[in-house]
Amino acid sequence: MKERLAVCPGSFDPVTLGHLDIMQRAAKLFDRVTVLVSINRDKVPCFSAEERIEMIKEVTADIPNISVDRLDGLLADYVRDNGACAIVKGLRAMTDFEYEFQMALINKKLCPDAETVFLVTKEDNMYLSSSMVREVASFGGDISGFVPERISERIVKRLLNKTKG
Ligand code: PNS
Repeated sequence: MKERLAVCPGSFDPVTLGHLDIMQRAAKLFDRVTVLVSINRDKVPCFSAEERIEMIKEVTADIPNISVDRLDGLLADYVRDNGACAIVKGLRAMTDFEYEFQMALINKKLCPDAETVFLVTKEDNMYLSSSMVREVASFGGDISGFVPERISERIVKRLLNKTKG
């Protein structure tokens, strides 16, 4: 049978425990998962694409069927060109839904062979977002419960430096 590849796209600026949970669960459902770090031309990220990729590689190093790649263009094109069968997204609350629903419909139109699969977030991660992590870290707050331990210090150091001065 053909290997089933799923993609997990996002900004991951930075990756949180919520993202990691979705990646781990996707890795159990599919043969292979590629986490796609988006390069958004309209949004200047806090962490460069290289930094975001490096952090995801670090926190997923123990999951053999996960790899990380950058997404420079349309998600639907990447999915088609790489033969992925699914786009996996995490859903936190109803507030996520409208935007995610719209993206899922557009992606279905652009790439009818792939399915968007929504995984409902763990209750503990309902409130988590990269922007909240950035905000807390920039004021020197404790983000240890929000991001993987391995990258926590790196994020704090980086964001504290950014807001100094
Ligand atoms: O973490 P985010 O910011 O919610 O992720 C959004 C992302 C990266 C999944 C979305 O912006 C995306 O797919 N970007 C790639 C460009 C694209 O395909 N746009 C049309 C999607 S409807």
